[in-house]
Order: sequence, then structure tokens, then C-alpha cells
Amino acid sequence: MSAAREAAGAAGAWGAEAARRARAHPLLRERALVGGAWVEAAGGGRVEVVDPGSEEVIASVPRCGAAEVSAAVGAAEEATRGWRARLPRERARALRRWFDLLAAHREPLAELVTLEGGKPLAEARAEVDYGASFVEWYAEEARRAYGEVIPTYGHGRRVLTLREPVGVVAAITPWNFPLAMVTRKVAPALAAGCAVVLKPAEATPLTALALAALALEAGLPPGLLSVVTTDRAGADEVGGALCDDERVRKLTFTGSTAVGKRLMARCAGTVKRLSLELGGDAPLIVFEDADLELAARGVMASKFRNSGQTCVCANRLLVHADRRDELAALLAPQVRALRPGHGLDPAATQGPLISRAAAARVGDLVARSVALGATPLAGGEALPGVGPRFYAPTLLTGATPALPICGGEVFGPVAPLMTFRDDDEALRLANATRAGLAAYVFTTSERRAWRAAEALEVGMVALNDGGLSTEVAPFGGVKESGLGREGGRQGLEEFLEVKYMMVGGL
Ligand code: SIN
Repeated sequence: MSAAREAAGAAGAWGAEAARRARAHPLLRERALVGGAWVEAAGGGRVEVVDPGSEEVIASVPRCGAAEVSAAVGAAEEATRGWRARLPRERARALRRWFDLLAAHREPLAELVTLEGGKPLAEARAEVDYGASFVEWYAEEARRAYGEVIPTYGHGRRVLTLREPVGVVAAITPWNFPLAMVTRKVAPALAAGCAVVLKPAEATPLTALALAALALEAGLPPGLLSVVTTDRAGADEVGGALCDDERVRKLTFTGSTAVGKRLMARCAGTVKRLSLELGGDAPLIVFEDADLELAARGVMASKFRNSGQTCVCANRLLVHADRRDELAALLAPQVRALRPGHGLDPAATQGPLISRAAAARVGDLVARSVALGATPLAGGEALPGVGPRFYAPTLLTGATPALPICGGEVFGPVAPLMTFRDDDEALRLANATRAGLAAYVFTTSERRAWRAAEALEVGMVALNDGGLSTEVAPFGGVKESGLGREGGRQGLEEFLEVKYMMVGGL
């Protein structure tokens, strides 16, 4: 029996407990929020929410469609009029109250994230902190939507710019961070003076509804944030209605590149502003002079966060050929020591994948790569004894760009180790992808670090660190990883238009 199997506990045994905790949950809302009212879908349909660890049904939400989208957009249009007219200081205070409530509900929010998303509670708590930090940050930034006074081009004339809210915003968020990806979009939109209609991921609507309930409690006006829930089949209808509605002036989306491209095409009809945070294929480069202990820590932090289901996680490990065996020897025991299990189990460090299909896809990529020459040093198998959605944390050596596991975003707990012989080859391999979200570089040479950072075709580079996600910095990609930035000062700009004013007759 493999180490991962021995370490694992049967996640299904937690199913009854998960359902009990969901039923008793103080923030459980099982209706959609449209225009400040908790509603059922006009069509009456409901969607089951499943705990991915045990596959137990834990709640249900309305299966909304175009009718709820239209009502929510109408309410948002109404709400945005009053909201944009408020003083920035007043918007800031309302956001601050929302932040305070998020902080006060840290534990119940983390529990909801675990129940519907599967990640271990410790990771879910970190997500609550991360998600709340965007609300705190944009409560502060709400007062800094500065325009400019531009040196004039003519006597008697003055030139200036104003920053104005873009208008009604549609936000479509993913299941891998059901809390932080909502606040990373909603908080800057509200800070800028916009209203938001949110479609959370079909698998994880409960956290979004809880966030909205706390926003109402914080005194945010009804209609300013609506949450329209649906299932996979309804997602096209809801997403399409948001894209087609000319009252919606901006779409912000986090999810797969394939869906992002479809939304982008659909938004052409109404020429919406777009922010797209799409798939990644991050290289993690370990140069020959790297501190390998540090690099191994970076790999573990980046690759296995949320069981590898993050768009920024290290997807390909590129290590100098002379250091590969040393790095593999450091990593293998750490990967074997990870404990897959139900997110409520305090001993678990790795949750399930989001679906059986996701686990099967990862298994297929590994199996085909092993058949073509890769060698598993840890893992390399499904974990049916833990649950049908679990895959063992896996380290593969002998990977090459030609293997299926190196052919794009894996979104699972698999670390493939490839080698390179010189810096140029490392950078060429790193950039040989249509994605361009993040890259990680480990080296003790300042010169090499700068050279790599500048040569990498990505939106974000971490030097000698396995993490880069923070509210203070602009998160986003280049190439097919998307458009726009979230977080930092730049995240507010995504929700502001620039209006140029020429003042004459002076
Ligand atoms: C994502 O995976 O989409 C976001 C990850 C992060 O913010 O760190």
C-alpha cells in the first residue's frame, strides 16, 4: 500500500457530519439574492450543493435563469445611481463594516468554504483572511480614485481627467476560491461606485450567498450586490444574459481560458469592458546555483496549495540537470508526507479534486506520461479508499515537454520535474506556452534573477518564493492568461472610466 493510501482516511465517513454542519450553519442561505430580496427562481428549479470530500448533498440553491439576471441588473442600475453619488468616505466606511463582519465570521466562513469546496479547514481559514484583505484594502482605496490635471495645450484652457465608475458590473467567479475570488472582484467594484451582479460557480454558491448576507448586514444598499445561482446547464443562460445585457458595462471573470474566450466573444455585442483572469501554466525554474531547501519549500507551497487547483500554482518544475536528483530527493518525502482526506478532518492537508471527472483527467494525464517514460517518485495513483474525487500527491521525474502532463494546465496535485542544461534553455522552455500568468525563479544570483524576471512572458514573477498572492499587488496575466489586473491600486482602475474634460474660456 502506498504512503498516500496509508496516510489517507476515508473521506466518505465525514459525509453525515458535513451535512449536519451545513444544516446548522449560521450563514447558510439557500435562496438567490436579487435586488436585496432572497428569492426562488421564477422557474422553481433547484440545484443540489455537494460536499466534494464525501459526495454528500449538503444544501440546495435556486436554479436561476435570464429572468433573475434581468431583475438583478435592473436593481443594480437603480442601486448604482445612489451609490456612485455617495462620498468616497461613505463607501469606504460601508466596505470597512463588511470587512469587520468577515473577520468576525472567520470560522463559519471557513467552514462553508471547506464544505462546498473541499479544501482543508486550515487552507479555508487562510482563504477567508486572503479574501477579507481585499475588502479592507479597497475600503482604503475607495478614497484614492484620483483624476489628473494635465499641463495645458493652449492659453485660456485647462485639461483634466475625472475617474468615474464604469457602471453595472457582472462578476463570474470560480469554485477553487469561492470566497477570495468574489471579494477580489466585488470589493474594488463597490469601492469604485459600481453595483455588481455575481454569478458564483455552480459548485460553490453557498460562500457567495453568505458573503452577500454579511454585506447586507453591513448596511450596503439592497440591489448593490445580487447573487444569481444556477447549475451547469443554467450557466450558459445566466452567463449569456449577463454578456448580452447592454445595461451591464463590465464583465469580470475568473476561470478557464476556454470559457474566457467564449465570454469575450459574447461581450463583443455590447462592447463591454473586460477583466479576464484565466488559466496558467506556471514554470518554476530552479537554477544550478539555487538554495535547494528554499526551492523545495517553494514547490510544496505553490504546487500543492488547494491540491494543485490554482491557476498560479507551479505547473512545470524546470531544474538544472546537475541538481535534479538532489531536488527530487528533498521533495519526494515531503510529497509522500502530505495527507489526503476530508477537509473537516484536522489531520488532512490535501482535499479532493472538485469532481470525479477532474480526478479521472489527472489520472489519465499521469498514466499516459508514465507510459511514455516519466517515473513517479511519489503518488501516481487514484485514492478510491479515500474517495472517488481524490488523487495522490504526485512527483514525476523524467518529464519532457512532449509528455501529456506538460501539455498545459494540470489543475491537480502533480509535480512534473523536467531538466535544462543552461539558462537560455530554461527560459525557452518556460515561455513555450500560450499561457502567461505566473513564474517562479530560484537562484542565488541577482543577475540571473533579473535576467529571468525580465525574459519571462508572464504577468507575475516570484523570486525565491513559492507564493505571490496578496491584496497589495496587481494579480493577472499576459498572453492567453487574460486581461486586466486584480488587487493593488490597479484593481480599482479596472472599474473606473477616464473622463477627459477640457475647460476653456479662462
Ligand atoms: C486562482 O487560482 O484563480 C487564484 C489564486 C490566487 O489568488 O492565489
